[in-house]
Amino acid sequence: MKVKFSSPGKITLFGEHAIVYGRPAIVSAINKRVYVSMEKRDDDFIKIISDLSSDFISINEISNYKGSLIYIIKAIEILSKYTGRKKGVNIIINSEMPISAGLGTSAAVSIATIAAYSRIIDYNISISEIAKLGHKVELEVQGIASIMDTTISTFGGTMYIKPNVTIEKIKIDYEIPFILGYIKREYNTAYMVNKVKSLMNENKEIIEKIMETIGLIVEEGKKAILEKNIEKIGLLMNINHGLLDSLGVSNKELNDMVYLARKAGALGAKLTGAGGGGCIIALCPNNESIKNNICNAIESIGGKVIPILLSEEGLKEED
Ligand code: MEV
Repeated sequence: MKVKFSSPGKITLFGEHAIVYGRPAIVSAINKRVYVSMEKRDDDFIKIISDLSSDFISINEISNYKGSLIYIIKAIEILSKYTGRKKGVNIIINSEMPISAGLGTSAAVSIATIAAYSRIIDYNISISEIAKLGHKVELEVQGIASIMDTTISTFGGTMYIKPNVTIEKIKIDYEIPFILGYIKREYNTAYMVNKVKSLMNENKEIIEKIMETIGLIVEEGKKAILEKNIEKIGLLMNINHGLLDSLGVSNKELNDMVYLARKAGALGAKLTGAGGGGCIIALCPNNESIKNNICNAIESIGGKVIPILLSEEGLKEED
């Protein structure tokens, strides 16, 4: 039996990092996905072939696994413990996005793996169980993680998420034209989240205020999105980026891309995701020549432009 599931990547419009401290965030699924194909094996081994690397390990040794495919192995381990069932599998992973770029590929691969593996072990899993177990995967791998990435990878669309309070879908019936700029990341999400944690521990009063202000930006951002106030969305993105920089999660390359995109005519620009390199989003006016100028500006400093659209699609089974 062969199964294939896919999950989307994401951009965070407002609120990354602050969501780890209970503040809300607004996040959108994008039309770039991670695909997970699986088939049962006749033995107890897991063989993974991915765009980046490959691995072959016994299912009885997965709790000791420390390799680069940790999110996939952890998803299988958690689901096996949760259901009491396990099977050897061949897995093929393909991603339409660069891995570890801050676009939520680890959440997407975890969610699609849980969906596919539950089918292999014949466990009838609900969509909310998938989201919950996906978050557990991120927590166990990273030490700290909000529900943001795994929620959006599961359900798709654009969401306002306030941990332990609300998960609300925001209906966007107009195009918000984002350009995504990418540079290779220096540090992974776990490192960046722990860096902010140390900053918080050592400067609690100041950093709490920054988190609180990011929370306010998210509330204003939600209003601006609903009112289709593109200029306000851009302004709030700029303020959010400044605060992320003050948390130490931006770097020179990200700042260069942000400033050049603004100079080229973007209505707003900010880093998206955990930072330490990775991606920025620039909000463009509806003008082809300005869009070209923004793309050229990103490329002029070695950034790669990745064309994206916001997407309503979450986890889905492929033919
Ligand atoms: C990473 O995509 C987003 C962070 O806020 C971490 C998290 O929410 O788990 C930096």
